[in-house]
Parts: sequence; C-alpha cells; structure tokens
Amino acid sequence: MRTVDWDGGAVTMIDQRALPWELRYVRLETVAAVAESIRNMTVRGAPAIGAAAGFGMALAAQESQATTVNALVADLRAKAALLKAARPTAVNLAWAVERLLRIAESGEFHTVADLRDVLLGAARQIADDDVAINSRIGAIGAKLLPEGATVLHHCNTGALATVDYGTALGVVRAAHEQGKHFHVLLDETRPRLQGSRLSAWELERLGVSYDIIPDTAAGYYMGSGEVDIILVGADRIAANGDFANKIGTYQLAILAQAHGIPFYTAAPTSTVDLNLSSGEQIPIEQRDAAEVTTPYGNAIVPAHFKARNPAFDVTPHRYLSGIITEHGIARPPFTASLRRAVAGEAL
Ligand code: MRU
Repeated sequence: MRTVDWDGGAVTMIDQRALPWELRYVRLETVAAVAESIRNMTVRGAPAIGAAAGFGMALAAQESQATTVNALVADLRAKAALLKAARPTAVNLAWAVERLLRIAESGEFHTVADLRDVLLGAARQIADDDVAINSRIGAIGAKLLPEGATVLHHCNTGALATVDYGTALGVVRAAHEQGKHFHVLLDETRPRLQGSRLSAWELERLGVSYDIIPDTAAGYYMGSGEVDIILVGADRIAANGDFANKIGTYQLAILAQAHGIPFYTAAPTSTVDLNLSSGEQIPIEQRDAAEVTTPYGNAIVPAHFKARNPAFDVTPHRYLSGIITEHGIARPPFTASLRRAVAGEAL
C-alpha cells in the first residue's frame, strides 16, 4: 500500500478523510488540486506531505505550457510557492519542493522534456527513499521495545503518514514483525482523531494489540504504571532537538518525565531543520475552529461557540530520551548528534 504515488500523469493518494470507514483513492491532475489535498488533509503526516509535494512539482512540470527551459523554471517557482503555502509546520513539504526546484534551477537541462523526466524521477526517488528510510527507522527503534511492553502513541505516524511503513508506528510494526508481543495505547488525538481513525485502522490491519484511549486518559495510564515507553513522530525538529509534533505531544512529554517513562520521537532526517536553532522558531499552524466545534461535520456545540485550534505544539528537547533516525538514535546533546545524522553519519 502506498499512501501517495504517481500514476500515468497524475498524483494518486489515499483519501485519509474517508478512513476508517472506506479505503478510497483520489486522482489529482493539477498542482492546485495537490496543494488543496495537503491543505484539507486528504494526505497528512510530514513524510507523506513531502512525497505528495514532490509529485506535485513533477506534475507542475507536466502541466506547464512552457516551451523553453527558462520559462519552465519560472512556472516551477510559482508552483513551488503554491505548494509550500499549503501547510506551514511540517518541514518535509518545503524540503521536497526545494529539492526539485534546485534540480530545475541547476542549468543542466537543454530541453523541457528532459527536465520533466528528471523531475518525475526525483519525485519517485523521494517516495522510494521514504519507504527504505522508514524500514531502517523501524529496525533501529524496535530494539527499544521490551517484550511485553505497553507503548503509548500519539496521532498517526504509520504507513498513512508516510509513503509506506511509518516512523513511530514503523517501530511498532518492525517489533511486531520480529515476533515481539506488546500492547499499544493510542491517543485518539483530537480534534482530527488521527489516533482513533488512522492509527487504529493500521494496527487492526497489522494484527497489533491496541486500545484507543481519550487523550485525557494518558496521564491516568502513566500514573497507574501501565506505560513503559512513549513513541511519537515529528513534523519539524530544530537543530537543538526541540520538535514540533501534533498538538498534545508537549503535555505527554512532561507527564513522561514526571513518571520516569522513556520518551522518543522517530523521524527521517528530512524532518530536521538545521536552519532553526530552537523550537521557538517553528511556525505553528492554526487551523479552522470548526474542526473543534464540528468535527467531520458533526456539530458538538452550536456553530457560534468560540474555539481555537493550534494543530501542533513544540516539545523542548530536555524531555526527549532520543530521536530515532535512519542513521541511528540521536542522543543528547542533540545539537551535535543531529548534525551528524543529517550529514549521514551512523550514530
Ligand atoms: O496534522 P497531521 O495529521 O499532518 O499531523 C501529523 C503528525 O503530527 C505526525 O505525528 C507527524 O507528521 C509525524 S508522521 C510520520
């Protein structure tokens, strides 16, 4: 199952808004439609958004009417801005768009056809790399899960949040594939319910033992001694290890420290943004209040009731036991270990 793919001149993706009720694929034939699919969370999860944006750039090259390389590069710059504006927090989006734009701007192409081919190849490579990177993250992280453990997980970080396999849930999947026995507590993750709608759907398919819990029950289970380890994903990791992830992650980190529970994030190095020295500089997406008052079209309060909806929060690095990357587990001090991981050194 690939969450995002390319098929005969169009971007295809699982419509995550329809799960867990229906596994529906959509076919997007314009860059505007790809940007909208990221904004409205048809596709979501930092690495999946990055792959979708990579294919979006390949699509931009195909849909451009340009007849010269220079004109095509100008079109690509405009479409890059459109894609990057879709969501602000997950750095994988800008990372993928800029990677393709740099290829286009390299001056190495003499024909429009050549540039189109190379950009599609580069977008496919981002998607293929994502799957390989996640399976490495899974293998590295699985060692952290003791036999019989209970894992607490927030949001969705599985195959659906990536091209395939997953990051934090990829660790869970790898441990399951190794034959380990353990249980996963899935925060439902209000207001978009990625935990109950998406992570539970994935664990059902994998045959991993789980229970959905209200977000507000996480402290209760930590206090009762039931949680052995907490695994979450990341949307952007600053150079010092502070990281943005789905709203609610920060409070889990503090509870984990209070109870002496190891707290890890798992992410590819494409989620690390060395341009930001600390998490305060990470832009936090504020989404429509209607997602809180009327989740999935079901009003739980009158429409005029006021609400706020920050989509992410930032967890300071001091709460983190480690960052599971495809090059190994980054440990404090993160400024040094993350720099080495981004350079591709084994940790
Ligand atoms: O708003 P979303 O659903 O895109 O947020 C997703 C998360 O916060 C994930 O935990 C994060 O992207 C890591 S997924 C591999």
